[in-house]
Amino acid sequence: MVTNKTFTMLKPDSVENGNIGAILEKITSSGFRIVAMKLTQLTTADAKAFYAVHNERPFFDDLVEYMTRGPIVAAILEKDNAVQDFRTLIGATNPSEAAEGTIRNMFAESISQNAVHGSDSDINAAIEAAFHFSEREMF
Ligand code: CMP
Repeated sequence: MVTNKTFTMLKPDSVENGNIGAILEKITSSGFRIVAMKLTQLTTADAKAFYAVHNERPFFDDLVEYMTRGPIVAAILEKDNAVQDFRTLIGATNPSEAAEGTIRNMFAESISQNAVHGSDSDINAAIEAAFHFSEREMF
């Protein structure tokens, strides 16, 4: 079943580089409605849990270090076909392969520091949204 919500994080590099406003403008002008949003910081335990699927990968420790080193913006976004459309908007994981005009093409530095997260399925969007937000924080 295709749902209309996805989950995103503007990662620490986006916050450090002053790109929150520009990235949110790109997201909302592409037709996504912000349902929930917060500036927050992941603990090491949070990052290890959020990225548990990657815990055997060689980049896991660097990923946890990167994602905990400063604040992030976490948000739930709503749009028809949200998961797929948002992955199209952010572009490939590796910014050198991300299409012109995508968020990672415009704002990401490298495959490991790639500016934004977007859920890869409807089920993961729901799990990731619930990881960060309670029902009363969703509008
Ligand atoms: P994302 O797809 O949002 O979630 C998993 C993250 O792991 C990914 O973004 C990158 O930040 C990181 N990642 C994925 N593949 C690699 C890789 N080959 N080398 C380093 N980091 C990676």
